[in-house]
Amino acid sequence: MNIRTIQWQKNKIKFIDQTKLPLKLKYFYARDIESIWQAIKAMKVRGAPALGAMAALGVYLGVKNSRAKNFSGFGKELNKVISFLASCRPTARNLFWGLERMLSVASSNQEKPISVIKKMLFKEAQSIIEQDRLICRKIGYYGEKLIKNNDKILTICNAGILATIDYGTALGVIYRAKQEGKDIEVFACETRPMLQGARLTTWELKKKGIGVTLICDSMAATLMQQGRINKVITGADRIALNGDTANKIGTYNLAVLSCYHKIPFYVAAPKSTFDLRIKEGKDIPIEHRSAKEVTELFFKRPIAAKNIKVFNPAFDVTPNKLITAIITDKGIIRPPYIKNIKKMIATRID
Ligand code: MRU
Repeated sequence: MNIRTIQWQKNKIKFIDQTKLPLKLKYFYARDIESIWQAIKAMKVRGAPALGAMAALGVYLGVKNSRAKNFSGFGKELNKVISFLASCRPTARNLFWGLERMLSVASSNQEKPISVIKKMLFKEAQSIIEQDRLICRKIGYYGEKLIKNNDKILTICNAGILATIDYGTALGVIYRAKQEGKDIEVFACETRPMLQGARLTTWELKKKGIGVTLICDSMAATLMQQGRINKVITGADRIALNGDTANKIGTYNLAVLSCYHKIPFYVAAPKSTFDLRIKEGKDIPIEHRSAKEVTELFFKRPIAAKNIKVFNPAFDVTPNKLITAIITDKGIIRPPYIKNIKKMIATRID
């Protein structure tokens, strides 16, 4: 299956509308930043690395028709677009990283003509997309070494092709293991309330020919108790300096369960997911989403009492001591995390 989640095509952004999966593989075209904002908010595009790429292309789309004659006017427009896109979802570090990369290209080339800066912004967004493809394959390369033939791997949410440009982080490790000839069975948590595991992960694994069994989130403990899981691998939305990791709500449950059952718990993420200004997980901003995601079956039919109070954080934070290792595009990071994250992530400029 060769699909691309996001791409620039004929002056607009073409992306898969993930809310239509698994029923339809439908593409959507964004011609303005309002549609991009809405697409991200509604999770038509989701997954941390995909958000970074979408944000970068969004910046270009937002300023490409600017009529500003000098950088002072152009810079104002650029900042407005960036602040707007930054307001759609708060947790994934990659979204802000994508925006910051675009800002930095423009700011460090202020003296150039606006037409040249626009071209440079387009090039930067395209290189974020191409780098993501490479970075995910590097995560797969390092992570695959942790996988044994016949491993039974539990995952949550979707950290695959659909969450990146075309390969995945946690699922990228599995794709690489399969390529190396290893037989893997994946257990996918359905991932309440938005069902990314049920709708997206099972869809893409099936298309890739990987054995996958869908479970309700509450079934993970039983599977582990029965000795049917050897490893847990998840993605990440933001990783603090000490290794505490924000990821889809329910990830922390799996980490606690893995610790109790002595099952290795791995996080797979690119360097762009690390936020070294945040020292510990408690300072990671956590998105809270609409109550309707919990009370209505996909906004179609009520499944809870009317006007019920709802708690709906989209992410939780897994403390570093529950994480066996973090698989990155720079290599595998093991505890002690502060020291090793600094060594592997903070000191590298690539
Ligand atoms: O709310 P979502 O679907 O954007 O959440 C996505 C996740 O939690 C993923 O695990 C994470 O972004 C990593 S994707 C490679």
